[in-house]
Amino acid sequence: MLRIGVLVSGGGTNLQAIIDRIEDGTISNAEIVSVVSNKENAYALERIKKYNIEGRCIKPRDYKSRKEFSIALKDHFLSLDIDLIILAGYLVVLSEDFVKAFPNKIMNIHPSLIPSFCGDGYYGLKVHQGVIDRGIKVTGATVHFVDEGTDTGPIILQKAVDVRSDDTPEVLQRRVMEEAEWIIFPEAIKLYSENRIEVEDNKVIISE
Ligand code: GRF
Repeated sequence: MLRIGVLVSGGGTNLQAIIDRIEDGTISNAEIVSVVSNKENAYALERIKKYNIEGRCIKPRDYKSRKEFSIALKDHFLSLDIDLIILAGYLVVLSEDFVKAFPNKIMNIHPSLIPSFCGDGYYGLKVHQGVIDRGIKVTGATVHFVDEGTDTGPIILQKAVDVRSDDTPEVLQRRVMEEAEWIIFPEAIKLYSENRIEVEDNKVIISE
């Protein structure tokens, strides 16, 4: 059984999509062991109550330094024997030390087709605003492993979504979630739980 730890900051709709695929048996070989938020009032922590998933808040402000925060977070997941860490809308930048402790074991979802509209400054609605401002016709979402850079790790899955001429950032954000994020994030976790993902030369190879 793959033991999953999740990091969240907000609403947790991606987390919900993953829980749904575990509940309906699509992902049969994994369990969510712990959900950690950096915000006490994140709705994601509310969502998990009815599934009996352990939730807690670990936030930088409670520690003397970023380093100590990072060690606490790392120790939390290590003590639970976590196999895979999912960033499901997590707005804290992870330290190099944390990322190095879990090589190719941290997955993130980004709401664009990397390498477009990603990297520093591209988060939340800013991504979709950038897409609309540039007038591109196709955007999407990307699931990737997390390395020391911002949105630079090996790409696992991508899915395209059409941009419409009357889209607002909010409308586009919702479509990217519904048509891409909520589909490919659970899919990537399923592949991982089936041991079908390998990384070679910073590239992901998915076996049949
Ligand atoms: C999503 O748009 C995701 O792509 C980004 O953060 C947002 C999280 O939304 N990384 P939610 O908390 O899963 O609803």
